[in-house]
Amino acid sequence: MSATARKTAPLPVDIKARKGGEPLVSLTAYTTPMAQMMDAHCDFVLVGDSVGMVLHGLPSTLEVTLEMMILHGRAVSRGLSRAMMVIDMPFGSYEQSPEQAFESAARLIRETGAGAVKLEGGRPMAGTIDFLVKRGIPVMAHIGLTPQSINTLGGYRVQGRGAEADTLMQDAQAVAEAGAFAVVLEKVPQGLSDRITATIDIPTIGIGASPGCDGQILVVDDMLGLFTAFKAKFVKRYAELGAAGEAAIAAYAADVRARRFPGPEHVFSDTPPEVKAAQ
Ligand code: KIV
Repeated sequence: MSATARKTAPLPVDIKARKGGEPLVSLTAYTTPMAQMMDAHCDFVLVGDSVGMVLHGLPSTLEVTLEMMILHGRAVSRGLSRAMMVIDMPFGSYEQSPEQAFESAARLIRETGAGAVKLEGGRPMAGTIDFLVKRGIPVMAHIGLTPQSINTLGGYRVQGRGAEADTLMQDAQAVAEAGAFAVVLEKVPQGLSDRITATIDIPTIGIGASPGCDGQILVVDDMLGLFTAFKAKFVKRYAELGAAGEAAIAAYAADVRARRFPGPEHVFSDTPPEVKAAQ
C-alpha cells in the first residue's frame, strides 16, 4: 500500500529555492505523534536512519534496514500534512550501483510517500545522485561526518579541518552539480561550512556546522532529552523529556505500590449511569 500523497507539502524544488533566505527548519521523526508535533513548525522532516540508535538501541546506524525505514517512514507520513518528508537510504541499500540505489529509493518513495531521499557521501556518490535525479527521484546529500562510514572514518570526529577542507569543498560542489536539491553538513567546522554555503547554489543544512548554513537539523530525541546515552557538542537540549518521563514512571510505580492508583475517578461503578440517574 502506498501512503497518500500530501497536497500542501513543499516540493524539493521549493526547498532549493529557499537558498540564502529565511533559514530552513528541520528535525528527524520516526513516529506519527512526533511528526504531528513538528508538522506546523518544520519545513521538512527527516526520517533519519538515526532511528536505529535512538529508538532501537543499536550501537550505530549500520544495522538499519530498508524495511525499518519503510515502517517508520509510513508512520511519519501519517503525521504530516504540510511539511515535506525526506527519508534516509540505509547503509547497503545504495552504494553498490546507481541501479541498486534506484530500486531502493523507488521503494522508499512508493511505499512511504516521502518527497525525497537522503544518501551519504560526496564525490563517490555524485554519479548515483545524477542517476536518481534524472529518473525522477529528488536527492538530499549528506557530507562531512557520514555515520554510515564510521568504520572507515575512524570515529565521530569533526570532518574538514586543515588539509581535508579542500576535499570537503569538492564533495559539496560535486553533489550540487550532480543535482542534489540540498546537502546536510554534519560536524563541519564553522568557517568551512560558511565557505561551502557561499560557494554552492543549493541550501546547506547544518548539524554541528554553522548558524550561517541555509537551514538546521537536529535529531529530535537529542533536542528533547529523550536520548541520553551521550550528548554531542552540537546538540542543544530544548527539553528534558527523558528525565520528566522517568520521574512520572517512578510516581506511578509508587502510587500503584501504595494503592493510591487507580483512584475513585479511574474506576467504574457496578451500577450503570442510567440506573444511577433514575435513583
Ligand atoms: O539519520 C539522521 O538522523 C541524520 C541527521 C543526523 C541529519 O542523518
